[in-house]
Amino acid sequence: MKRRTSVIAIDGPAASGKSSTAQMVADKLGFLHVDSGSLYRAASAAILRRERDPSRWTEDTVLDAAKPVELRAARTSFYPVLDGRSIEEEIRGPDVTHHVSRVAQMPRVRQWVNGKVRETANSRNVVVDGRDMGTVVFPDADLKIFLVADSRERALRRLRQRGTPTSEQLLDDETIRIKERDARDAKQTVAARDAVTIDTTALTQDEQVAQIVALAKERSE
Ligand code: C5P
Repeated sequence: MKRRTSVIAIDGPAASGKSSTAQMVADKLGFLHVDSGSLYRAASAAILRRERDPSRWTEDTVLDAAKPVELRAARTSFYPVLDGRSIEEEIRGPDVTHHVSRVAQMPRVRQWVNGKVRETANSRNVVVDGRDMGTVVFPDADLKIFLVADSRERALRRLRQRGTPTSEQLLDDETIRIKERDARDAKQTVAARDAVTIDTTALTQDEQVAQIVALAKERSE
């Protein structure tokens, strides 16, 4: 049966501004925002609490650790909860960020995330963001956006987001970290054939949001 609600899928590499853009687009359209990366991060946080040595992780132990993870509804978005408590802060830390790509390579973890994202999006108008929302999870999304930006610009945005004072050295280091994550996530970070690619390097956040909202309105006419 054809879906009656709308799905806008926003994909792209690390620090391309997907989540903040997705949230702003959702707010403007009165949709809900679902961040698929938060589930990969929550699964990583859950296994890190149990076992610090990633070489000992298996799909079974990660899935078992992730079993109590839920996405709980906030006003216009969802946040991950583990054993009844929000883990929003823990999942954004450097430890989880460093290990998350390893967890995201596990096929059954990907199935678990995809199932949870589809379940959360079910019967709602949503903006979903991640790497493979437009290719794997919602191949029939009403609008697919692929956000790209120069790696140095993405590094700069990350540093600003953290409120870290910026130096050339810090910027170099962050650019390297972003490129490494790009390489680790390359397999699943592919634009759908029918996605609109937006290069945000020289755009402000408001400009990119306005472009996506305009495309969404065009599609729904
Ligand atoms: O989007 P974010 O950077 O929070 O995602 C964290 C990690 O989760 C990514 O580096 C990637 O390894 C994984 N991910 C993924 N597929 C998605 C969303 C995130 O593989 N749809």
